Amino acid sequence: MNFELTEEQIAVRDAAREFAQTELLPGVIERDDKQEFPAEQIKKMGELGFMGMMVDPKYGGGGMDTVSYVLAMEEISKIDASASVCMSVNNSLVCWGLEKFGTEEQKEKYLKPLASGEKIGAFCLSEPEAGSDATSQKTTAEDKGDHYLLNGTKNWITNGNSASIYLVIAQTDREKGHKGINCLIVEKGMDGFVVGKKEDKLGIRGSDTHSLMFTDVKVPKENRIGEDGFGFKFAMSTLNGGRIGIASQALGIASGAYELALAYSKERKAFGKPISQHQAIQFKLADMATEIDAARLLCLQAAYLKDQKKDFGKQSAMAKLYASKVAMDVTVEAVQVHGGYGYVKEYHVERLMRDAKITQIYEGTSEIQKIVISRELLK
Ligand code: CAA
Repeated sequence: MNFELTEEQIAVRDAAREFAQTELLPGVIERDDKQEFPAEQIKKMGELGFMGMMVDPKYGGGGMDTVSYVLAMEEISKIDASASVCMSVNNSLVCWGLEKFGTEEQKEKYLKPLASGEKIGAFCLSEPEAGSDATSQKTTAEDKGDHYLLNGTKNWITNGNSASIYLVIAQTDREKGHKGINCLIVEKGMDGFVVGKKEDKLGIRGSDTHSLMFTDVKVPKENRIGEDGFGFKFAMSTLNGGRIGIASQALGIASGAYELALAYSKERKAFGKPISQHQAIQFKLADMATEIDAARLLCLQAAYLKDQKKDFGKQSAMAKLYASKVAMDVTVEAVQVHGGYGYVKEYHVERLMRDAKITQIYEGTSEIQKIVISRELLK
């Protein structure tokens, strides 16, 4: 067993760290406050290869491994979880699925601009009445011969407005249950497709989360991913990888908060010495560091298995379940270490605490991760 990173992986991590410090940190508080999407920064992330990290270079991607992706996601998320969820969805829910299951034409037309960061993608599964219970899709894709007629509403869609390419899951044949579901590639601007209201959220406020409405949208048959009825399997397989991205985001939120708490504890004095010299604070730091290391190992293990082309669904669910809990626990403690300063925006930890919560909800709640894990255990 080897716990060492390769030179390339270290270089990717360092590049992401440098980018986050120089390009994302300035303005992150204001973007959170104004709910402003980091459009300029995402564009630069595309230029640096962070938006299609694992995609084959022949489709404009970085050709990197999943371990590098975890490392980059952690660094970006330490500073700006709104930018990192955009990166995660584009990389692992949209690019990965298109590369693995798309046709050559779909890859040329859609994957290339997504992998290079020229365009942003969105993954549209959740609905007003179908979140965890993902087979209960109300959105319909009626088979009309050479095209599908798409009707319905999607909710809480990350990159909802900033995206221009959308992977939309919809029911074609209700009698077939999950085997009657398809995934269609929808372009912004198609007649009948409207981007709905922007959500006013607790955290990741810089990320643009919208509802989407589809009314008689004509989607050509060649925009279906995989065989007829493959849509649900497509969504589940894609989410297996997506959960590595969100687990790494949670890890980054936790380690960002921990680094701030560690630095602050050395500066802030109470009772005549830095608070880092008090055991109450030392124990908090020890717990945070231990939990973060455990979460990182789970993320890297899931990534490693994926890179080795082995089953990784259970490990990615474990990584997400655990890292998201660590993100909550560590950010709450980081605010506590900061005392009153932790409760004000200037010190960043209150934002990280707000950002942490969503990692226990999206791409499968913690309860769903437990279903996924226990089903694997009981197979
Ligand atoms: N990987 C691959 N295939 C899977 C799978 C997985 N993890 N989970 C299920 N499947 C397959 C099953 O094998 C089954 O296929 P067969 O019938 O051929 O055997 C099929 O899918 C149906 O599976 P189930 O009968 O187990 O389906 P279910 O109704 O019991 O649901 C579930 C299973 C795990 C609860 C699933 O519905 C689920 O994961 N729900 C959560 C959905 C989710 O994560 N939503 C997040 C929205 S996306 C998002 O948040 C993105 C964003 O913008 C940030």
